[in-house]
Amino acid sequence: MKTYHVGVVGATGMVGQRFISLLENHPWFELTVVAASPRSAGKTYEQAVGNRWAMSTPIPEAVKKMVVLDASKVEEVAAKVDFIFCAVDMKKEEIRALEEAYAKAECPVVSNNSAHRFTTDVPMIIPEINDTHTDIIPAQRARLGTKRGFIAVKSNCSLQSYVPALHPLREEFGVEKALVCTYQAISGAGKTFESWPEMLDNVIPYIGGEEEKSEKEPQKIWGTIENGEIVPVSTPAITAQCLRVPCSDGHMAAVFVSFRKKPTIEQIKEKWASFAGAAQELQLPSAPKQFLHYFEEPDRPQTKLDRMLENGMAVSIGRLREDTQYDYKFVCLSHNTLRGAAGGGVLLAELLAAKGYLD
Ligand SMILES: NC(=O)c1ccc[n+]([C@@H]2O[C@H](COP(=O)([O-])OP(=O)(O)OC[C@H]3O[C@@H](n4cnc5c(N)ncnc54)[C@H](OP(=O)(O)O)[C@@H]3O)[C@@H](O)[C@H]2O)c1
Repeated sequence: MKTYHVGVVGATGMVGQRFISLLENHPWFELTVVAASPRSAGKTYEQAVGNRWAMSTPIPEAVKKMVVLDASKVEEVAAKVDFIFCAVDMKKEEIRALEEAYAKAECPVVSNNSAHRFTTDVPMIIPEINDTHTDIIPAQRARLGTKRGFIAVKSNCSLQSYVPALHPLREEFGVEKALVCTYQAISGAGKTFESWPEMLDNVIPYIGGEEEKSEKEPQKIWGTIENGEIVPVSTPAITAQCLRVPCSDGHMAAVFVSFRKKPTIEQIKEKWASFAGAAQELQLPSAPKQFLHYFEEPDRPQTKLDRMLENGMAVSIGRLREDTQYDYKFVCLSHNTLRGAAGGGVLLAELLAAKGYLD
């Protein structure tokens, strides 16, 4: 595999920092550009991040002295890299325009932002689930008038545990409806306990826009490509409540689910244990060996104990049992800034590279 030169746009933020950490020693991707807002541009990365660095490992030496570029200087950034990761805190319309400008500058964009998730020819990919949605890229390139440039997005972090858990059950048993309550860590808001002390000893029952994303994005992920558009499925119907809880990292979900054809508990566990997707088949460098792990212990998974399973790229599931109103209920967990954000972004870029879309 050749080496690809990579830029991180939004490099100073919470997700951007994760990208910086994950790209250190990556076998295929070499970090060449860090870019952020005009507030950071011209400073060294170390100066620009200041005391916001929130990773458990130090800033990589090679990155400390890199000079941060202004992300709005699209041509300048695009000329230096083969593709960018984008994770910025800006208005939706501004992000849409910025990402499209990079694509039109023939620089593919792997995005963690929500701005383009419902653009019908932009694939929203979890590599284990819907890798074939890369087939939409030629249609998107035709619309944008580009040869290389396109946008591919990651889905929201809230659903990265329960969509993978429901996915292997869909084909044989038909998932009819699901109710999910998510318990989401503060890093999902780009925060730490230092920057958000109000979250200590507290639960906030509102995360703006999150419930809509949690209910609607799965339908697009399971959708089909028809006439140059991704058409969402209508089932399963999903209803969600999303709460912010005092954890640093890791989003937990409590799930209730009903099927068209009710499986046994053993059948569900067998589907989870045997599930593998394109990320495992292509042996992508960031792919977990086993995507879905079931814990038999009644008090697992736990956020603090299990979020780093397989480098934070696996999904942990537990407490599968019958329910009185739905067929079954269970809990599941994924790391929100690894699998749910930067790690999922890197895995998506690996999929795109393996399929030749970054050449
Ligand atoms: N945190 C998560 O778990 C998570 C998960 C999935 C998706 N996301 C999404 O990822 C994106 C970033 O989230 P975050 O948590 O990393 O946010 P964050 O910590 O607030 O970081 C925001 C980043 O955006 C940059 N930025 C702000 N205004 C800009 C501008 N006008 N031009 C260029 N760059 C600008 C900031 O640069 P400066 O330092 O120069 O201000 C910083 O690098 C958001 O769209 C979020 O919804 C986050």
